[in-house]
Amino acid sequence: MIIKKASFVISNTNYKLCPNENKAEYAFIGRSNVGKSSLINALTNNKSLAKTSGKPGKTQLINHFLINEDWYMVDLPGYGYAKTSKVLRVRFHKMINDYLLNRKNLICLFVLIDSRHDLQSIDNEFMQFLSENNIPFTMVFTKIDKQGKSTLIKNFNKFKTTMLNDWETLPKHFMTSSIKKTGLKELLSYISELNTGFQSSQES
Ligand code: GTP
Ligand code: MG
Repeated sequence: MIIKKASFVISNTNYKLCPNENKAEYAFIGRSNVGKSSLINALTNNKSLAKTSGKPGKTQLINHFLINEDWYMVDLPGYGYAKTSKVLRVRFHKMINDYLLNRKNLICLFVLIDSRHDLQSIDNEFMQFLSENNIPFTMVFTKIDKQGKSTLIKNFNKFKTTMLNDWETLPKHFMTSSIKKTGLKELLSYISELNTGFQSSQES
């Protein structure tokens, strides 16, 4: 799939105010600073579409971007940023959970995970929550340019072993680098396939 047009639509704190649910939607979530906004910019080939930062806690709202006038990408705030105040953390948690549990056109949630790390309990618990609530998700490993190929494989194997302690199978996953633009084509074809499924379900 080629992205010809990507434009910012709206930012919200409440899922009820998000755009009409008649288009397929894909949201990006994960720990603060994992690279959600950067991945959206890399996928759309637009450096300034989503706001990125070297400091965690940059994205604080539910941000909708309309792609090819046809479907949405959604940039969500990160979780697990310890320096945010408790009040803010509780507010973010409620905002994200309400969105995830109620958004009917959310076709797939991309859970971003830093490819350099072993499975973190916060990510594991979050994915357990998704699974228990039947929220479809796919893991996206980020920043693979930050390590050599053999280290990447070693880290991934360790991650997989840890994950399989709690999970029957490893959820679907992609390996990406927003800097080197690795894995983006694969991710876009996956979205394209899911879009086709969404369109057929709308027609029937
Ligand atoms: P919050 O909105 O704060 O939750 O963060 P985020 O997950 O949106 O992360 P963001 O895209 O703002 O990126 C955080 C930092 O990681 C920035 O300094 C990016 O330049 C860097 N970064 C993101 N993706 C990559 C990548 O693929 N490779 C490398 N080397 N750096 C990356
Ligand atoms: Mg962000």
